[in-house]
Amino acid sequence: MLRRLHKDQPASFAFTPANLEWAQGQISKYPAGRQASAIIPLLWRAQEQEGWLSRPAIETVADMLGMAYIRALEVATFYFMFQLQPTGRIAHVQICGTTSCMICGAEDLIKVCKELIAPAPHALSADGNFSWEEVECMGACANAPMAQIGKDYYEDLTPEKLRDLIARFSKGEVPVPGPQNGRYAAEPLSGLTSLKDFESGRAQYNASAQRAVDIGDVVKRIDGTEVPIQTPWLGKSSKAAPSGDVALAEKPAAKGDAVAEGTKPAALTAPRDGAADALQTIEGIGPALEKLCHELGIFHFDQIANWGSAEIAWMDANLKGFRGRVTRDRWVAQAKLIGEVGIPEFLRRAKTNDY
Ligand code: FES
Repeated sequence: MLRRLHKDQPASFAFTPANLEWAQGQISKYPAGRQASAIIPLLWRAQEQEGWLSRPAIETVADMLGMAYIRALEVATFYFMFQLQPTGRIAHVQICGTTSCMICGAEDLIKVCKELIAPAPHALSADGNFSWEEVECMGACANAPMAQIGKDYYEDLTPEKLRDLIARFSKGEVPVPGPQNGRYAAEPLSGLTSLKDFESGRAQYNASAQRAVDIGDVVKRIDGTEVPIQTPWLGKSSKAAPSGDVALAEKPAAKGDAVAEGTKPAALTAPRDGAADALQTIEGIGPALEKLCHELGIFHFDQIANWGSAEIAWMDANLKGFRGRVTRDRWVAQAKLIGEVGIPEFLRRAKTNDY
């Protein structure tokens, strides 16, 4: 399948403040120079926020990770889970069309989508509320045919049941996911033949469906306020985490950690001799951070190499959207080394993280 960016693109993209904070927490999980490892969670969060991945969203994520745009575009266009065109305001319906589901009636489900949503996959319904596509096996073959709607599986479907689901979503309802034919989970259609005691003590719905009902975010767009951010190593408490989530242990602040105060580093009004150093040589500085540095009057490696703890603290607290990066990525150590050994030797060592 040909995967291209959509012809109509928004002018810009920005994470919500809470999603931005969440994204920075993800980035902080990786060592200096390996920020690109966070690309899939960040792209996914951008999609969860907007419903699809626009070019500005992909490029924003690339900037945050110090990646060339083409690298981020490669990831976004490779994985089918990333939607490269707008999806339905209420829900994107993914019908499994692989063997078990096809044998059990997936083609009839697709006919319903063509009739109720749009004749072609990846097109919006007339009211903009729904879109659909056929996908490969979703691993719920024992409950074929099935569809993923939003984040959850609706299983044991018939055309009538799918019509009913779409109608209920249209009215703002969120139908309980899971089997739609009375089955609890994936037990035999004729009922349990063993472990029958299980029936008396079980929850109302199977674990997946119960969880979806409990958190109620089946088709909701994610703005980051749903679950407390759990990055205690960045000073974010995990105490408010809901039960069931794994809370990370608080890490005490290390001696010498940057504080919010500090001293603004000495700035230049323009690069010396009209030529700035290639600050992106420093691992962790990408196009967006380099631009921010320039706006702050930082153009040269030796400026960064001369920062003390007060300047580092100020920069860490004032790099909008990238707080804490100077400490985390050891800019000063990198800049010092560049000054000592030159860029070619620095790049050789950076490959092995030897700085
Ligand atoms: S074939 Fe449809 S879920 Fe596996």
